[in-house]
Amino acid sequence: MARILITSAIPYINGIKHLGNLVGSQLPADLYARYCRARGDEVMFICATDEHGTPAELAAKKAGKPVAEFCAEMHEVQAKIGAGFGLSFDHFGRSSSPQNQVLTQHFAGKLADAGLIEEVSESQVYSNADGRFLPDRYIEGTCPNCGYENARGDQCENCTKQLDPTDLINPRSAISGSTDLEVRETKHLYLRQSALKDQLDEWIDSKTDWPVLTTSIAKKWLHDGDGLQDRGITRDLDWGVPVKKGTEDWPGMEGKVFYVWFDAPIEYIAATKEWADKTGGDWERWWRTDKGADDVRYVQFMGKDNVPFHTLSFPATIMGSGEPWKLVDYIKSFNYLNYDGGQFSTSQGRGIFQDQALEILPADYWRWWLLSHAPENSDSEFTWENFQAGVNKDLADVLGNFVSRVTKFCRSKFSEAVPEGGAFGEAENALIADLTTKIRAYETHISAMEIRKAASELRGIWVAGNEYLQAEAPWSTFKTDPDKAAGQIRLALNLIRLYAVLSAPFIPEAAAKMLSSMNTLDTSWPDDVEAAVNALPAGHAFTVPEVLFAKITDEQREDWAARFAGTRD
Ligand code: 2FM
Ligand code: ZN
Repeated sequence: MARILITSAIPYINGIKHLGNLVGSQLPADLYARYCRARGDEVMFICATDEHGTPAELAAKKAGKPVAEFCAEMHEVQAKIGAGFGLSFDHFGRSSSPQNQVLTQHFAGKLADAGLIEEVSESQVYSNADGRFLPDRYIEGTCPNCGYENARGDQCENCTKQLDPTDLINPRSAISGSTDLEVRETKHLYLRQSALKDQLDEWIDSKTDWPVLTTSIAKKWLHDGDGLQDRGITRDLDWGVPVKKGTEDWPGMEGKVFYVWFDAPIEYIAATKEWADKTGGDWERWWRTDKGADDVRYVQFMGKDNVPFHTLSFPATIMGSGEPWKLVDYIKSFNYLNYDGGQFSTSQGRGIFQDQALEILPADYWRWWLLSHAPENSDSEFTWENFQAGVNKDLADVLGNFVSRVTKFCRSKFSEAVPEGGAFGEAENALIADLTTKIRAYETHISAMEIRKAASELRGIWVAGNEYLQAEAPWSTFKTDPDKAAGQIRLALNLIRLYAVLSAPFIPEAAAKMLSSMNTLDTSWPDDVEAAVNALPAGHAFTVPEVLFAKITDEQREDWAARFAGTRD
C-alpha cells in the first residue's frame, strides 16, 4: 500500500469558478485520488480556497461585505459546489486559517535565517484616484514580452511571463481605469530565488518523467532572459497574513502582509494541519520527511498559469527553509479549456459556471465530458454539440443502455436474481481476455495521469460488453438454449458490477447507483478479471435501476447554448 499526497491548485475565493477551473486541477486530482483509493493506497487529498490578496478585497467590496465575512460565506459556497461535483477532498481548507498564518510566518522566518530574504526599498505604483497602492494584478497594461494589451501586473496570461507591475507598458488601474498613477517609495521583502537557481535547475532536471508542459515552463523561467528573478513576497494591503519573522515582529514591515502567492501553496501544508486539528490525525507524516513522509508520493494538479509558482517559487520556499519538508514528486499541469470559440473568463462572466452546470445536469455528465476532453496536450474546446454527442453516445448509448438492457432482460426472462446455469465458453473466455488487456491498459494510463487515454480505454471496456451482448444476443439464444442465455446474462450482470468499480473514479454517482442496483458492497478492484466476473453468484438478487443517463435533446442543447451565450455578472 502506497501513501499518496494529492493537492489541487486552490481556487481564488473571489467568485464562483467556471468549468475550465474544474477540469484544470480539481477534477483530474479527484479522479486520481479516487483511483488510488480504489487500488488500496492511503490517500490524503487536499484543496482549499485561496482567500488573500486584492481580488478577495475587491470582491468583498463589490458584495458590500467585510472581507472576512465575504470569504467565510464564499468558502461555504465553493465547498458545497465541490461536494456537488463529487470532489472527494479529505479536507477543503482556507488559506486565511490560523494554521496557515503560523506556517507562513514560520517559513518567512526560516528563509530570513538562511539569508534568503532581502529587504528592498522600492518604487511602487500608487493610484491617486483609488487612494491606494496598486499591487500586481490590479495594474493592467501591455506585456513587454509579447505585446498583449491586457496583461496584469503579476503575470501575462497570454505568454505566462511573471511580471512586476512596473514592467507594464501604458499601465492603468484595473480598479478605476485611471492612468493617474504615480510611483512611491515603499519597503518590501524579496525571496532570493536567484540564489537557489542551480539547486532548482538540478531538481527540475532530475524530473525526467514530468509532463513537457510542466518542465518547459519551469525551464523557460530558469533560463530565459536574465534567468530566475528574485520575487517580492510582501504587499501593502490590509487583508492577508501579517508579515512576521516566525513569531517575532519584523521591523519596518508593520502594516504589510505576505503576497498571496507566498502563502497560497503553504496552505497545502496548513490545510493538512487543519485536517489534523479537526480529526486528531497526524499531518507531519504527510509533510515532514523526518516524521515519516519520506515514503509519501506527492502529486500536484494545476493549470499551466500556476506552473511557475509550483516548480520554482514554492520549491524555493521549501528548499530555502533548510527544514525537511516534503517536495513535490510529480506535477500534472493542464492547458486551457475554451468555450465556444473564446476563453472562459471569470472576470468577464463568460462560459458556464460551476453552480449553473449543476443546476442543469448531474455532476457525472460534466465529469465524464470534461475528463474525457481534458486539455492535456493542447487547449481543448467546449461546444454544446460536442458535449451533447459525448454524453449521449458514451454514457447513454453505451454504458446506460448496457445496464438497462441486461437488467430488464433478466427480470423479464428469468427473475431479479443472477440466473443459474450456463457455463462460460469460448466467447466468454475471449471477452475476459480482452477485458484483462484493456483493464491493465486503463490502470497504466490512469496511474500515469494520462486522463484522456484512461477515458478512452474505459469507453473501450464499456464497448466490449456491448459488443459481446450484440454478438451473443441472449434474447435469441434464450429461444433455443435458455441455459446458455442464463450464463450470458450472469456474465453481463457481473459486468455491471465490474463497470461500476472501474468507472467510479470518473462517474462516482452513476457507479454507486450501479452497485446499489446490483445489491452489492463489493468494490474490490479486478486484479483477476475472471474472478471479478464471477463475483455475483447465481441466485444473487438485484433490482433494475432507473435510467442511468438521460439523453440530452436537441431542444435542451439549443436552450442552453442560448442561455449561456452571453456573460453573467
Ligand atoms: O490560479 C489560481 O486559482 C490560484 N488561486 C491557485 C493557487 S494554487 C496554490 F498555490 F495554492
Ligand atoms: Zn505576454
